[in-house]
Amino acid sequence: MPTPDYDPKEVAALQADQLASAVSAGRAAFAAAPDLEALAHEHTRHLGPRSPVALGRRELGALPPQARADAGRRVNDALTALQSAYDERRVELERDRDAHVLRDETVDVTLPWDRRPPGARHPLTLVQERVADIFVAMGWEVAEGPEAEAEWLNFDALNIPPHHPTREEQDTLWIDPPTAGLCMRTHTSPVQLRALLERGAPCYVVVPGRVYRNDPLDATHSPVFHQLEGIAVDEGLTMGDLRGTLDLLATAMFGPDVRTRLRPDHFPFTEPSAEVDLLCWVCHGTSTDPGAPACRTCGSEGWIEWGGCGMVHPVVLMSAGLDPDHFSGFAFGMGLERTLMPLHDMADIRDLVEGDVRVSLTLGVEG
Ligand code: PHE
Repeated sequence: MPTPDYDPKEVAALQADQLASAVSAGRAAFAAAPDLEALAHEHTRHLGPRSPVALGRRELGALPPQARADAGRRVNDALTALQSAYDERRVELERDRDAHVLRDETVDVTLPWDRRPPGARHPLTLVQERVADIFVAMGWEVAEGPEAEAEWLNFDALNIPPHHPTREEQDTLWIDPPTAGLCMRTHTSPVQLRALLERGAPCYVVVPGRVYRNDPLDATHSPVFHQLEGIAVDEGLTMGDLRGTLDLLATAMFGPDVRTRLRPDHFPFTEPSAEVDLLCWVCHGTSTDPGAPACRTCGSEGWIEWGGCGMVHPVVLMSAGLDPDHFSGFAFGMGLERTLMPLHDMADIRDLVEGDVRVSLTLGVEG
């Protein structure tokens, strides 16, 4: 109920100067708000239910009717002025924010999308696949075996009994405990046995794989490297078949002009055994002539050592349960790094084993 004797001048909040200063304080605060969050905060202070103008409006009801109209107009004018100052600033700040969003979240569709250079398959992978393709086309199979191998398959069954010097030559990484009879395979030859035990005869398999030796990593040695093994067991196979197969492999890897030679050698699991060499494709053997310029590729040897080979030893055939009077076979094994290095004129085996992508990008591009 209005109080008839109430003096509106006593209601400070409704006095013109009070309202005017509330309006100018609000305007200043809105104009100074740096962002929408600050503006919302100022809105509560100057236009919210507990703001000076809102509190003044609440007093209107207590005024006598004759004073209420004037005071009401003043309050409304103040509210309108504050509201429009607020709205103005909000429009400005919203425009700013939108401009920021547009700028900060811009996607430059013209940026290059392929900044990461594409990878390439490793030259060792490619050479293994190329060889596998060639042999599969001749009806051979590709076989694999475990890299942690039974001592018996890595040595004993291959005619390398304990204390045989070959065990010392192929510095072996043994797996703990020593009684487990397990080692990291020192060559791919244990897969000869695995293939024969699994398939029986006839058997034609190639085995590309990783092998391990307790060697330091230097320019010409790596404790892990790759070999390519091949074994064929059938009726009536001869060294001529071995020679033909090696020539075919050499041609596929080094081109039609390559020449191979066999040199007598010894492996416990082949008899007779041979070392297979390639005629150097750079000097064609001429670097051994007196007074000829040195050849980097073959170290002026004329020939490049490629791998070992021979006719499968009867002991190996018997280990696989085959009758050596009925079956014969040949086997060969070569280091793949040692094959690729002269081919690509590489001096350091670490370039092949350390996985620098530049090597793959240079040598591993063709499929
Ligand atoms: N396993 C032999 C080595 O690692 C290579 C070899 C394989 C020799 C097959 C003859 C037959 O040196």
